Amino acid sequence: MIKTAEFIKSAVSISDLPSDDLSHYLLLGRSNVGKSSLINAVTNRKSLARVSQTPGKTITLNLYLLNQSFYLVDAPGYGYAKRSKTQAKSFVTMIRNYINQNQKLKKVILLIDFNIGPTIDDLSLYSELIHFDIPLIIVATKYDKLKSSLRLKQQKVLTEKFITDQKIYFTSSETKYGIEKFIAEVFENE
Ligand code: GTP
Ligand code: MG
Repeated sequence: MIKTAEFIKSAVSISDLPSDDLSHYLLLGRSNVGKSSLINAVTNRKSLARVSQTPGKTITLNLYLLNQSFYLVDAPGYGYAKRSKTQAKSFVTMIRNYINQNQKLKKVILLIDFNIGPTIDDLSLYSELIHFDIPLIIVATKYDKLKSSLRLKQQKVLTEKFITDQKIYFTSSETKYGIEKFIAEVFENE
């Protein structure tokens, strides 16, 4: 259970990160997939992280300290068409450096829109991430948006896109479906 949550800081490079030894959990995914909303659902706060209808709102790595014991890190989304190529590239470099150089990174959490399924960008990032020596979790977001009669089938379709044994959580930040299980299992050692 998440008892306390506070925004600590925004970071653009590894040198901006806190110097303590607490673990980091990084959220990645397309713009608009629901990263910031997941932070709000997990922390049970309405607007701790900034959520918007317009994609591209998160432009830095934003560190949230949970239960005074670990950081949940919101990142800029990818695949946002209105962003300049230069800015998109610099985000990729920032996130890549963060993954490569941050020794306190415990898990990478890749968000996929449950209704849309993994995009080409999602799958190419996924295949890059599975080669890193770091646990990779998938969260299928916006579970509430699909008609309940179609959910089971879509769950199967989505699961088949990833490697066997890939851990996938199905969640809705709107209805809180799957959030408790996600917290209990993903942050189990914190
Ligand atoms: P960027 O910061 O642009 O990368 O986007 P993000 O991944 O942080 O997405 P954000 O959390 O801002 O959510 C984008 C939109 O999706 C908002 O309009 C949210 O209200 C909506 N949304 C997020 N999660 C859910 C969900 O579980 N269900 C529904 N129905 N809508 C959701
Ligand atoms: Mg965001």
